[in-house]
Amino acid sequence: VTSFRVGLLGHGTVGAAFDALLRERADAVEATVGRRLELSGVLTRSRGDFEELLETSDLIVELIGGLEPAREYAERALRAGRHVVTANKQLLSHHGAELLAAAREQGVELRFEAAVGGVVPIVRVIRETLAAAHLERVHGIVNGTTNFILTEMARTGASYEAALADAQRLGYAEADPSDDVNGKDAAAKMAILARLAFGAAVELEDVTYEGIEHVTADDIAYARELDLALKLVGTAERVDGGLSVRVHPVFLYGGHPLASVDGSFNAVTVESPAITEITLSGPGAGGPQTASAVLGDVISAMIPPAVPPGPAQPVEIVTDVESAFYLHLEVADRPGVLAQIAELLGLQGVSVKSVVQKGLGADARLTIVVHPVRESRFLAAVGLIGRLDFLRVPPRWIRVIEEVFE
Ligand SMILES: NC(=O)c1ccc[n+]([C@@H]2O[C@H](COP(=O)([O-])OP(=O)(O)OC[C@H]3O[C@@H](n4cnc5c(N)ncnc54)[C@H](OP(=O)(O)O)[C@@H]3O)[C@@H](O)[C@H]2O)c1
Repeated sequence: VTSFRVGLLGHGTVGAAFDALLRERADAVEATVGRRLELSGVLTRSRGDFEELLETSDLIVELIGGLEPAREYAERALRAGRHVVTANKQLLSHHGAELLAAAREQGVELRFEAAVGGVVPIVRVIRETLAAAHLERVHGIVNGTTNFILTEMARTGASYEAALADAQRLGYAEADPSDDVNGKDAAAKMAILARLAFGAAVELEDVTYEGIEHVTADDIAYARELDLALKLVGTAERVDGGLSVRVHPVFLYGGHPLASVDGSFNAVTVESPAITEITLSGPGAGGPQTASAVLGDVISAMIPPAVPPGPAQPVEIVTDVESAFYLHLEVADRPGVLAQIAELLGLQGVSVKSVVQKGLGADARLTIVVHPVRESRFLAAVGLIGRLDFLRVPPRWIRVIEEVFE
């Protein structure tokens, strides 16, 4: 039996789990693939030598994380004709294009299933299963930390701050959760997904993103009243011959497959005319789970490769897209207020789908849902409404995804 030698960079949460899993699964892999998986060596800050590892490996697994030296090692491995498997979304979202180009030139594989959507095998599905489908849109809950926080807020009525503290205590959020809660982590993953789904050169800079820091317990309570779920959703879609790639909190109707994805789970919905939609969901992270996705990539690289992906094409990024919105206003409860608001919305071509009014003493709370409209139009109307003297607090709004697949 010939061996297939794997050099492991990084031996932390995922690296150590991968090391253990590789030993545990070596017999089963040999029985299926006909080659013996062997660890040729490990590199961390305190042990191992990269040159030596490269010489003695068929494939390099990069589980260091961050940009440098992960980028340099991955590039050198590819240039030396070694396959590379990584779980590093930062690396992919910043240097994906050049690394994939290097892999193509050398005729080796660069696989990164664990870098997007946690353990959800979406990369393989888009690249292989759906290789012949014309994809229109990809929606994803691709950050487990924020989904955990939003789920807790919905379950307990807690504030954002309290739910974040819980998430940190339970290990679902890091001590510094900034890149999770501000949407940047999800944006990096959406850049990778957009590149895959549309074969387009999308970078992190092309992604517009918003996080969940400003979501209130009230927003969640309204969502419940309206029978909606509030999620941080990444969207990549074809718009007017270009692409829009964005991440923001949205309301979803119960019939949308992402509405019921709770806790730290991730999920991705792919839409195409030929298939309607396919949704995959699963754990968003975790050492053993991620290691399993990494090992799946290693095994794929051991088998003669499928059709390699072609080079990404330049694309126009569209930022002013259509969306339905929910608008929340607290106003003085006096005659003519609703008429004035409706007029300002109407002037910008914003059409109202529903209005719910509730008394709050001398004030009233208006919850307005509007039909899909260009964001710039909606924001212009809200800007004008924000100046009305009967407004008690600044207007708040959240996007609404209207599709359901029932
Ligand atoms: N944790 C998860 O659930 C999860 C899920 C999906 C994807 N990922 C991704 O998987 C990757 C690894 O994450 P992790 O949680 O396993 O990280 P981690 O626990 O911090 O482990 C990082 C490892 O890399 C090593 N390392 C750091 N800097 C190095 C350097 N300059 N040279 C050589 N080795 C270096 C560390 O060595 P020392 O031992 O010497 O410090 C450590 O062994 C990241 O890209 C992460 O985004 C993680």
